[in-house]
Amino acid sequence: TLQVVHTIEQLRRLLDSMDRSSSTVGFVPTMGYLHEGHLELVKQAKMQNDLVVMSIFVNPTQFGPGEDFESYPRDLNRDSKLAEEAGVDIIFAPSVVEMYPNDGGIRILPGPQANKLCGASRPGHFDGVLQVVLKLFNIVAPDRSYFGMKDAQQLALIETFVRDYNIPTTIVRVPIVRENDGLAKSSRNVNLTSKERQEAPVIYQALQKGIDWLLESVSPEEVERRIAEFITSTSSGAIDYVQVLDYPSLGPVTEETNEMIIACAIKFSTTRLIDNIIMSTK
Ligand code: PAJ
Repeated sequence: TLQVVHTIEQLRRLLDSMDRSSSTVGFVPTMGYLHEGHLELVKQAKMQNDLVVMSIFVNPTQFGPGEDFESYPRDLNRDSKLAEEAGVDIIFAPSVVEMYPNDGGIRILPGPQANKLCGASRPGHFDGVLQVVLKLFNIVAPDRSYFGMKDAQQLALIETFVRDYNIPTTIVRVPIVRENDGLAKSSRNVNLTSKERQEAPVIYQALQKGIDWLLESVSPEEVERRIAEFITSTSSGAIDYVQVLDYPSLGPVTEETNEMIIACAIKFSTTRLIDNIIMSTK
């Protein structure tokens, strides 16, 4: 049965009672308000490990001033039920004070991958993501850690971080889970008005058109322009960015590119949505 713990000490006590030489821990970090995207990460973690730990923590250090830290949806009772049904063994749901009792001022400085896409419109966002993810890795010490391709830039940065700093966990990529109409599942979808919710599937339609255009050898810049035009002419969404880049470097597409990403962020009245498609070029 599911155990919900709120302190690092309680979590350590549970994990220390396991024999870590004969059993593995799969870790699913989240900010809660669980949906089928999160539960897909749990499903993979469950298949590959003896124990599944999920963290639920809306991390203040990855939100900028004026962003939705306060209005980010939270419901631990609902999340606990969904997590238990999906087979999570332990939920770690710390308070902000438990995670950040004091601040020695040490910061993690991500490289150029962090300045593109969401990093350009959310300065400092990925510093906060890497900060909390490193803390969580140190607290949980997972064998495998599960991240969704929905947040492709976050995943690229975490893979680089783990590789470059020899962090002892294996990162597992999990594909994007979508609604039937193609909208990528997101905790933020509940904040769309009903009209915006009807329009939002044009984002994925536009990305799919983008793949077709790239296959027809339309240039990345022209593909970006056409996707932006399609979205703004068929919805009330405003373009934050649409970009075709090399993945996972997030540099420009070159002759050497093996995988391309088409990534976009679209702003509706109160809600900013991100989505992407990755396409192999070889
Ligand atoms: P959150 O937005 O709650 O997402 C938790 C994990 O679920 C991330 O790895 C994300 O990519 C994955 N996910 C979300 N929607 C998905 C979907 N539709 N399909 C597949 N996977 C999906 O990402 C964060 O939280 C935070 O930045 C965190 C890593 C927990 C650090 O605070």
